[in-house]
Amino acid sequence: MQIKKVAVIGAGVMGAGIAEIISKAQYQVVLKDMDEKLALKGVSRIEKNLEKAVGKGKLSLEEKHEIMNRIKGTSENEMIADCQLVIEAASEKMPIKKKIFEELDKVCHPEAILASNTSSLSITEIASSTNRPGKVVGMHFFNPVPVMKLVEVIRGIKTENITRDIVMGFAGQLNKNAVEVEEAPGFLVNRILVTMVNEAVGVLADGVATAEDIDTAMKLGANHPIGPLALADLIGNDICLNIMEVLYEEYGDSKYRPHPLLRKMVRGELLGRKTGKGFFDYDE
Ligand code: CAA
Repeated sequence: MQIKKVAVIGAGVMGAGIAEIISKAQYQVVLKDMDEKLALKGVSRIEKNLEKAVGKGKLSLEEKHEIMNRIKGTSENEMIADCQLVIEAASEKMPIKKKIFEELDKVCHPEAILASNTSSLSITEIASSTNRPGKVVGMHFFNPVPVMKLVEVIRGIKTENITRDIVMGFAGQLNKNAVEVEEAPGFLVNRILVTMVNEAVGVLADGVATAEDIDTAMKLGANHPIGPLALADLIGNDICLNIMEVLYEEYGDSKYRPHPLLRKMVRGELLGRKTGKGFFDYDE
């Protein structure tokens, strides 16, 4: 099956980033959200990103128009019925994902591949809400999507080899490096990365060092591009907490216990960049 048209479900930061790189790779893209306004907000997010690239001389105006012309924002299911691949990037809640996949299963062509960009939820469980579990797969992108080179391709227990192969090949077309991962809590990167973030929160809570010094130390001492607390703010503290909760619940190992300070930050809506305040301030 040749992929020509792709749907992205959920027009937030990740969904918009995924739609942008798919269009850049010459595919038609439908960016769908529950409400047309949200879908169009995602489309204008992409446009702003491309305008920055034009401003830096990295993209011509004509290229920008071509990329934008291949992206359609919508809330209508009919627009995605003829897509060969759907990538879901909606809210990280299992009941929401299952509802979306149940609906996609009815709306999309029976041969279409249904992928989820979930950062930690079970692909096997998501697939169980469809009649095509062999065609359901994880396709996990990293934030910011246009910059980060990795895609984790996650096989649920029933994911067919052909589905994995098509998706691995498609990730290559997007100029990403795909790594095949067997389904496991936190998959590969987040099990390591978010556990490190949680530990950094513990170092802060213990008063070992300030947030600024924790981040400076990890940048200079471990050559990380940004510190773990700035990374938490980039990912979103709520998402970090979700991932730690999945790891703790699934493995039952105390090393994955979400730090109470992380929980407190989420309860106080100090979610990071998206609320303007997390471990650091982000006044626009
Ligand atoms: N969209 C598009 N491009 C972006 C961008 C965005 N949101 N943010 C930065 N960039 C681009 C910039 O335009 C710039 O491009 P040029 O070099 O072409 O000019 C380039 O990235 C570097 O940006 P900056 O100089 O502004 O800033 P920087 O040097 O700090 O780099 C960064 C930014 C690449 C994001 C870097 O800080 C970094 O690598 N951070 C770590 C990111 C990371 O670990 N992400 C994974 C999070 S985990 C995850 O996503 C999985 C999950 O499930 C939770």
